[in-house]
Amino acid sequence: MKDLEYMKQAIELAKKGSGFTNPNPMVGAVIVKEGVVIGRGYHESYGGLHAERNALKNCNTSAKGAEMYVTLEPCCHYGKTPPCTEAIINSGITRVVIGTLDPNPQMSGKGAAILQRNKIRVETGVLEKECKALIRTFAKFITTGKPYVMMKYAMTMDGKIATYTKQSKWITGEKARYQVQETRHQYSAIMAGVNTVIQDNPLLTCRLENASNPVRIICDTHLRTPLNSRIVQSASTYSAETILATCSADENKIQQYLNKGCRIIQTSEKDGHVNLHELMGVLGKMGLDSILLEGGSMLNWSALQQGIVDGIQAYIAPKIFGGSHAVSPVGGIGVALPAEAFLLADTRFIPVGNDFLMESEVVYPCLQES
Ligand SMILES: NC(=O)c1ccc[n+]([C@@H]2O[C@H](COP(=O)([O-])OP(=O)(O)OC[C@H]3O[C@@H](n4cnc5c(N)ncnc54)[C@H](OP(=O)(O)O)[C@@H]3O)[C@@H](O)[C@H]2O)c1
Repeated sequence: MKDLEYMKQAIELAKKGSGFTNPNPMVGAVIVKEGVVIGRGYHESYGGLHAERNALKNCNTSAKGAEMYVTLEPCCHYGKTPPCTEAIINSGITRVVIGTLDPNPQMSGKGAAILQRNKIRVETGVLEKECKALIRTFAKFITTGKPYVMMKYAMTMDGKIATYTKQSKWITGEKARYQVQETRHQYSAIMAGVNTVIQDNPLLTCRLENASNPVRIICDTHLRTPLNSRIVQSASTYSAETILATCSADENKIQQYLNKGCRIIQTSEKDGHVNLHELMGVLGKMGLDSILLEGGSMLNWSALQQGIVDGIQAYIAPKIFGGSHAVSPVGGIGVALPAEAFLLADTRFIPVGNDFLMESEVVYPCLQES
């Protein structure tokens, strides 16, 4: 019972690093001695001290003989900081409770084994599901080198993301829209299709104070993004990169976007558009661990079809737009039979003001991965 309680505290601490640790994971740690919490810490920002070292630094008394509760297995290698296992061993801690093992197959279990070899009692798997949820983007990135992709859209109860006149502002209420800003802060990048940019002229920034701005990516096969769009116009002063992913090799067009401060990523063509698989590889190499895919309909379909989507967040508003020409969240040709549906798992249904958020993980049968 106590283990669960302290691990819950460690999880809440870990969440404080949300949006600041990418591509590192969010991690929290609590140190307990004789039933009293003596130190708390979390991984606050990329390159900064790990949660375990912060918790040890914050101890108000010696940690000798204490227990540590940590959401992720302590690291045992030299990275930007020395191994946490070393700090734990030197501190005299006698028991370490771990939420989940390191998802990196080359590291998994090694930190726990080093602690055990040094006569520290180790227990793993306490609130494992919750601790795994904390590191889902990190787990995808570290095991594949590609970003975790969350497809996010807002739709009416009749499944429309815009009216037949292509108007989409606004579908959900203020609370849901605020939550989306928080999500933008958590992700390293936002990606949209060129039609959404032409239609809505969005900025795709995070409008929260003291938040990190995501890299902005437009999928634009033939470089149709208007040079006077807000996204291009703001590129040179924006705090993160603005990327156009394209198949175009038109030097004149490319130079115009470069002059405005945009970055160009060229991919091969897949089904007449930007090759999303290839794009994910390039973005992963750039260190982008997570992408919030904000559609629209055509890009969402391609992303699912090419197997790059890991999770889906559907905000559902209690409204009806109607209209057989009004777009739905996922367009394209669609599947021919119900049995061919993309399957979703681990679904959560959360009220957000007057709206609802339905969040799921995508389950790909192996053959859909190309
Ligand atoms: N409610 C919401 O949450 C929400 C969110 C976003 C958008 N929207 C609405 O959605 C509408 C736009 O959706 P849309 O379906 O027309 O367009 P879209 O998905 O925004 O953009 C599609 C375009 O992106 C380009 N593209 C580049 N690479 C692609 C790839 N691999 N796969 C697919 N397309 C690729 C294609 O043009 P090229 O081949 O010429 O490059 C394609 O025509 C707007 O009305 C907007 O308001 C609503």
